[in-house]
Amino acid sequence: MTDSTADIIVAGHICLDIIPTFSDDQTRLDELIVPGKLVSIGPAVAAMGGPVSNTGLSLHRLGVPVSLMGKVGDDALGHAMLDILSGHGESLAAGMLVIAGEHSSYTLVMNPPGVDRCFLHCSGANDTFAADDVPYDRLAGAKIFHFGYPPLMRRMFAEGGGPLRSVFSQVRAAGVATSLDMAMPDPQSEAGRLDWKAWLAEVLPEVDIFLPSAEEILFMIRRQRFDAATASGAADLASHVDASVLADVADELLDLGAAVVGLKLGDQGLYLRTGDDAPARLANIHATLGDDAWRGRELITPCFAVDVVGTTGSGDATIAGFLAALLRGEPAEAAITAAVAVGACNVEAADSTSGVRPWNETAARLAGGWKRHELRVATPDWRPTDCDGVLASPRDGTS
Ligand SMILES: Nc1ncnc2c1ncn2[C@@H]1O[C@H](COP(=O)(O)OP(=O)(O)OP(=O)(O)O)[C@@H](O)[C@H]1O
Ligand SMILES: [Mg+2]
Repeated sequence: MTDSTADIIVAGHICLDIIPTFSDDQTRLDELIVPGKLVSIGPAVAAMGGPVSNTGLSLHRLGVPVSLMGKVGDDALGHAMLDILSGHGESLAAGMLVIAGEHSSYTLVMNPPGVDRCFLHCSGANDTFAADDVPYDRLAGAKIFHFGYPPLMRRMFAEGGGPLRSVFSQVRAAGVATSLDMAMPDPQSEAGRLDWKAWLAEVLPEVDIFLPSAEEILFMIRRQRFDAATASGAADLASHVDASVLADVADELLDLGAAVVGLKLGDQGLYLRTGDDAPARLANIHATLGDDAWRGRELITPCFAVDVVGTTGSGDATIAGFLAALLRGEPAEAAITAAVAVGACNVEAADSTSGVRPWNETAARLAGGWKRHELRVATPDWRPTDCDGVLASPRDGTS
């Protein structure tokens, strides 16, 4: 059952991460995986992976009533996931789609000491998630429907943008605002070779809030720039992207149909652009979002300074902070501040959600004068705003 008292429904990709532990001298994968040999290893840790649990549980930790809508099989791994979710909150598994005959998605995370992690992943029921899996009659009462990681869900990309567009248009018909996060597909895979620009052109007219990472969106619609940024290894966005590149990309995404575009910038923070129709399209979430204050905004904010322990799920937590702020009717400056605040709390813990604190604790941390990093993305002519650490572009507040 989907909990109609939930303010936010988080749907999309979900999987079970199974993480074996190894002894200090087990440092070679080729000595661990040898045909015909039995190797003793330590106990396994089971953890949830994917945005349904990462963004969903982060929202739950913030205190937002949330319902999770991932698809799992009616099998042992599926029930393990439901148990883990229920352990975080009694009703959290109630909206999950449990389908007999499907296989639950799992990942074996091989992380021996001193070796680069290697993942063995089965996408399982994520690949068959289809538009008619969503129980639209149970969405009434929710304010936001957030969908995460369609590039990792075969039915959601292999037939073009049609299936996800259909999900979103039915969700909006129920009076619920739509929100979308992407994932980076493996460039060599079927998803990596897709025409993502065409896919976005189909889907974005039904997306009110679009929150990909800058890296993902450059891969999808600015491939040359992405290739240049990654030519020397990991992308260093700050040295390949300035504010004008972000503005250009965001304007194109607004033209394609999104009303709010937030681009996650890794350790550089968050960029926000909103269109002329943002107040109208956000008004159902909270009346104050219907004011002019959300029209034609262009803002950027760097990350808060923290001791980084692990960045797993940091993008998903950043989205939780942003959506929680929208639900509260916060102005745009405060919403991006809350987003990077929750993202920063996330990276203080190794796992994907336990660093996230309740909304009031996060707010108290902000009020206590939490330092931000300096922004390395070039923002010539941008000006400080009344909100400490948030910069506005020369065209902020104009269409
Ligand atoms: N070093 C850091 N310090 C503080 N906050 C950080 C740091 N690194 C990342 N974050 C937060 O996490 C967000 C992650 O942005 P990124 O562009 O990596 O998104 P993503 O690719 O969707 O992340 P994920 O890998 O979790 O899916 C940033 O917007 C910021 O809020
Ligand atoms: Mg992400």
